[in-house]
Amino acid sequence: MSEVAKLKCGDQELELPIITGTENEKGIDIGKLRSTTGMVTLDQGYVNTGSTTSAVTFLNGEEGVLRYRGYPIEQLAENCDFIEVAYLLVYGELPNEKELVTFRESISSHTMLHEDLKSFYDGFPRDAHPMAILSSVVGALSTFYQDSLNPHDPDQVEVSIHRLIAKLPTIASYAYKKSLGQPFTYPDNSKSYCDNFLQMMFSTPCAEYTSDPVFISALNMLLIVHADHEQNCSTSTVRMVGSADSNLFASISSGICALWGPLHGGANEAVVQMLNQIKADGGDVDKYVKMAKDKEDGFRLMGFGHRVYKNFDPRATIIKKACDRLLEKLDIDDPLFEIAQKLEKVALEDEYFVDRKLYPNVDFYSGVIYRAMGIPVEMFTVLFAIGRLPGWIAHWKEMQNSPSSRICRPRQVYTGPLNREFVTLDKR
Ligand code: ACO
Repeated sequence: MSEVAKLKCGDQELELPIITGTENEKGIDIGKLRSTTGMVTLDQGYVNTGSTTSAVTFLNGEEGVLRYRGYPIEQLAENCDFIEVAYLLVYGELPNEKELVTFRESISSHTMLHEDLKSFYDGFPRDAHPMAILSSVVGALSTFYQDSLNPHDPDQVEVSIHRLIAKLPTIASYAYKKSLGQPFTYPDNSKSYCDNFLQMMFSTPCAEYTSDPVFISALNMLLIVHADHEQNCSTSTVRMVGSADSNLFASISSGICALWGPLHGGANEAVVQMLNQIKADGGDVDKYVKMAKDKEDGFRLMGFGHRVYKNFDPRATIIKKACDRLLEKLDIDDPLFEIAQKLEKVALEDEYFVDRKLYPNVDFYSGVIYRAMGIPVEMFTVLFAIGRLPGWIAHWKEMQNSPSSRICRPRQVYTGPLNREFVTLDKR
């Protein structure tokens, strides 16, 4: 007989099935709770709530394990390129050579933006945040591809997936060019995904630009380690929006908005701002650690802490090593990297951080690498979005293809006023 959990509510006893995942994680299925007891569960921030079963990514926060489709992140970051990992996430298996060539060719063939889309950029202020531009332009793709918006038509979904993966770097680099007042650089389909992105970011019509292979490989690694992270805030947003049968462009656009927040993907930008602030303030790391511990202050050490990882973030370990290697190779002496290392050391030895299991997360060192590559700080979260896109797509697709999927519609426990008589304006 399958396992059950017993719940006692007043004089009622309810048997709730326990669902066991492939890694032996267990979840209590409360599907019949409300219809049987009239009650709902309350779980602020969904700390204990599994919103779905999923076969995309496994993570174990206690042991610092992260696997995409069963493959450890360390092995993928070491051996793959981003497009290969995107294929793995979206289709569930690593591609063979032929599948990879076909996928790459298809992605390359969709990199250009419709010329009319370029006029959108004229309407944004020069200092618009690129994440705002990214979400708007991705949402606008649904106006240009009205022939492929049906989430239940596999062919339409397929072409939308390829278009999105192909166009996101172009959309992102145009946002950067707009902020500089420089002409947009068209994609070059003879180049790899990361090389092409760097070209579009940094080349101009008046000067030749060749991407540094060291940067191409660092970018590739960063995109891979950001590619998925199961039911995080932005992925859950994509699934939530998609559960209403909204098209893929609309769903991804809302995921980009969720990622923008400084408690989520926006943290990489906030980390560099914080490190700059510490540097400008004389580099007194202890002062900032003290501020972070002071509950009255409201200041947090950005890039520290994670809802799920409680020992270390395996992505941060990969990135820290890459950061060390990159700065050494380029012979860069970045004062922010020194402050970051000092801050990490002080915080990791401090009782407050140790007790709360607060460790550097994926965002702590990624900004230092982006800076070394010449990527401006406002673009950091945009790069996170490019990396996370295959994960969002994989989850959206998994949800659309699941026969048990329903519109996401949480409940609440109402705490407002009881029924009261309307009072006319002259009597208020
Ligand atoms: N600095 C100082 N104190 C912290 C920090 C921090 N960065 N993070 C958590 N804490 C403290 C909290 O004040 C709380 O203390 P208390 O128990 O005394 O009240 C305790 O640690 C638990 O923190 P919560 O906010 O309850 O943890 P939660 O799981 O809700 O939040 C989060 C996780 C949002 C990542 C949080 O650690 C944080 O704000 N970190 C800084 C922002 C950041 O780096 N975000 C990126 C996350 S990774 C990603 O999204 C890609």
